[in-house]
Amino acid sequence: MGRFIVKDSFYERAKKEGYRARSAYKLMEIQKRFHAIKAGHKVLDLGAAPGGWLQVISQQIGGKGIVVGIDITPVAPLNQDNVVTMTADIRTISTDELLAQAAAPAFDVVTCDIAPNLSGIRDVDEARIGELYESVLRIVKEGLKPSGVFILKSFFGPEFKPRINELRSLFSSVTVYKPDASRGVSSEVYLVSMGKKQTTV
Ligand SMILES: C[S@@+](CC[C@H](N)C(=O)[O-])C[C@H]1O[C@@H](n2cnc3c(N)ncnc32)[C@H](O)[C@@H]1O
Repeated sequence: MGRFIVKDSFYERAKKEGYRARSAYKLMEIQKRFHAIKAGHKVLDLGAAPGGWLQVISQQIGGKGIVVGIDITPVAPLNQDNVVTMTADIRTISTDELLAQAAAPAFDVVTCDIAPNLSGIRDVDEARIGELYESVLRIVKEGLKPSGVFILKSFFGPEFKPRINELRSLFSSVTVYKPDASRGVSSEVYLVSMGKKQTTV
């Protein structure tokens, strides 16, 4: 079955305002509510293509910040000095390689909007999502600074509650947030985890 793209108001708005993906508005809403990304921040964006979130993050961090975006699909150049992109698989990349791109000892914020390629076979897909989640968490544990913020796209399913519980053990607060721009887009929600605990470094 071909992919069905809903050309809704956010899609049209993204086209008009020059954002590469309608998902940019999801991050704008998250930012408006949580104020997680600040000027000068070093940010890591996992699953960054085509680059909508990178555009939003680049605006928020300004000239003194840097955002490193990684995706298995190449991101077309954004021509912003504060954006670095890498074409790689997050399951095999080392955290040190990511930190080297930012020339920083740790990231202030990690964002993850990764969506795996799904097969439609439940067991296979759950295993794929689980494997990606473990890789994301490895990078967050190793590369996010204490007190840092982690923004993760998540889906309702059998693993949802255990994941929230795990994040609650690693962060001071975890909020489940559904942006308006995410309405009607499957069962996705965003988990905003703030205040990474020292003990998890
Ligand atoms: C919904 S898109 C991200 C959209 C992005 N936030 C934006 O605003 O442009 C999800 C991305 O996850 C990427 N992805 C899936 N598996 C990955 C992996 N193992 N490593 C890196 N990126 C991956 C896909 O290639 C896809 O570009």
